[in-house]
Formats: sequence, structure tokens, C-alpha cells
Amino acid sequence: MSKKYATITGVHGYVPDYVLTNKELETMVDTNDEWIQSRTGIKERRILKKEGWAASDMGVEMVKGLLEKTNTKPEEVDMLICATITGDRVFPDTANTIADKIGAKNSFGFDINAACSGFLYALSTGAKFVESGSNKKVIVVGLDVMSSIIDYKDRSTCIIFGDGGGAVMLEPTEEKTGVQDAVLKADGSGREFLNMAAGGSLKPHTPETLAAGEQYVYQEGRPVFKAAVKGMSGAIKDVMERNDLTNDDIAWLVPHQANIRIITSVASMLDFPMEKVMMNIQKYGNTTAGTLPLCLWDYESQLKKGDKIILAAFGGGFTWGATYLVWGY
Ligand code: UT7
Repeated sequence: MSKKYATITGVHGYVPDYVLTNKELETMVDTNDEWIQSRTGIKERRILKKEGWAASDMGVEMVKGLLEKTNTKPEEVDMLICATITGDRVFPDTANTIADKIGAKNSFGFDINAACSGFLYALSTGAKFVESGSNKKVIVVGLDVMSSIIDYKDRSTCIIFGDGGGAVMLEPTEEKTGVQDAVLKADGSGREFLNMAAGGSLKPHTPETLAAGEQYVYQEGRPVFKAAVKGMSGAIKDVMERNDLTNDDIAWLVPHQANIRIITSVASMLDFPMEKVMMNIQKYGNTTAGTLPLCLWDYESQLKKGDKIILAAFGGGFTWGATYLVWGY
């Protein structure tokens, strides 16, 4: 029997309507448009403000669009994975809430908590189920509602993050397209640099933790920045070497959108031309697990069947990695 690959047969994204500009942030914290753009590359980000909406509602929009595009009935979906750190609730998971809301009655799924690398981890996980032959229509969602865990009084984090994400459909094929290989890494000792201090079993919420702002994202920017450049460039190099790929072979590098300076440093370390680097950080900021599918959605019309693509991410955990993908349509 020939090898099965898990190929992407569609991608669809969603971002909320509300645009939070650098100008508006200037009225909220001591910052300015010039600092934000020159230090991060971000001009604006989207914020979920719809009454009663949460992560699963954004997921429903992504998946509905994906089902339409791929001509799939909800009952045909047999697995749905959601990468997020801002699910509707601590438990149960958001993946099965999305499945319920769209009527995917024959699907099972779960969430993956790997922060900015969540989509990479989820893509590899979904691909294994397809490659093994056990599942045929697997949806992988990557999204975050970062505004729900950001302190809009903390200028070092509130300027960076935004809300949004996207979803892809994975299906089996015998053609050599889809997920080819992935270098996935983690180092839990990085947890002290990027975390949410309270709300877990280590420190359940109390009036004191709330007063201390421990329900919000805490980040030490500089060490995370350095680790991100080293981690992403190392993983990209490893996955390319393992698959005998040169920069000329690669049609697109799709990096996690955390900071334009991280992206340009990674490209420069690898001698990779910026014209082939996907970038939409200026419009959406850092949507954590959402950045990679949002990039694929934005650039979908420029992608061609057979394009060799490298996805790369780095985030809280620390978690990081790089995935080699061949575009399938
Ligand atoms: O996606 C998950 C992984 N996360 C990342 O990859 C993020 C990695 N880190 C970063 O992107 C950057 O470290 C930040 C964008 C978070 C910060 O940029 P930085 O160039 O590393 O700035 P810094 O934290 O070293 O701060 C430099 C100065 C400080 O002032 P002093 O101490 O030099 O007087 C900050 O207080 O910039 C100040 N600063 C600001 N000034 C104006 C920090 N935030 C702001 C701000 N506006 N929003």
C-alpha cells in the first residue's frame, strides 16, 4: 500500500471587525505609534467586542467558511482539533464546542495548549491521524482571543496582541503534497518568562491575585525575543537540512507573527529573501495560535499546487518548531 499524506484542501480565517489602532493605544497607555511600529512592525490589531462571543464563536466562523470552500457537510468531519490558550472556558475544551455549534456530530477532538506554536503542534497531530488511515476529514483550528487575557494598562504587552485565527482541512492523498515533516521542540524551563501566573491549580484566582493582575499575560520581552530568533532559525534549518531543501526550493516561509524584528532576524540568519516571507503582523499583531493559519488565508490566492512551504513558530512554554509542507491545490 502506498504512503498516505495529509494534505491541506482548504483554509479559512476570521478576524473580528473592531480595529484597535496604535493611535487609540496612545490614549490608553504611555506609548506612541512610532515606537510601536519601529519596535514591533504592528499598525493595528483586531479585538473581539461582540456581545456574548468567545473563542468558539470565532472558530465557528472559520470552520463554516472552510466547510463551504471544501464542499464538506458538517457530518463528514471526523476530527476537529483547536490550538488555543484562550478557549471559552478552562474546561471543557473549545474544539468540541465548535464541533457542536456547527453540527459536526461525527467528530471528536480536543484542544492543544502550546501558545504560539499551537497550530504547528495541532497540524502535526491532525496529520498523524490522517496518515494512519484512521481519519479522513480533520479540521485544525488555530485561534486566540488574546484581548481576554491582556492588561490594557501594561504597555509592554497590550500593544502586541490581537484576536483572530484560521482553520485548515486535512484530507488523505497519495500525491506527495501536504505535511511532509516537522521539527517540534519544547523547553518547559522557559515558563517563567511568558505565562499567566494565576488561574491554574498552582494559584487559583483569589481577590489578591486579581488585584495583582495575575489573570493577565506576563512577558519578559527581551529573553523571549532572543530565544525566539534562536529557536525558530534552528528549527527551520533542521527541517530544511533533513529534507535536502535549499532556500531556492522554498516558495514561502511562514513565520509566527510576534515581532517584525524577530522575523527579519530569522530571515537574515538563514539568508532567506524577505520577498518570500509571509507577513501580516502590521494588520493583526500577534494572534498567538492564530498567526500561521491567518497568514495562509491572507496569501491563499498567491499559493500554487506544489509550492514548498516552511511554517515556523516560537512561543510560551517555551514551545517552538518548523514544519515542511507542500501546498496541495
Ligand atoms: O509570541 C510569543 C512570543 N513573544 C515574542 O516573541 C515577543 C518577544 N519580545 C518582543 O517582541 C519585544 O521584546 C517587545 C516588543 C515585547 C519589547 O521590545 P524591546 O525592544 O525588547 O523593548 P524592551 O522591553 O527592552 O524595552 C525598551 C524600552 C523600555 O524603556 P527603558 O527601560 O529603556 O526606559 C521600556 O519601558 O522601551 C520601553 N517600552 C515602551 N515604550 C513605549 C516598552 N513598551 C513600550 C511601549 N511604548 N509600548
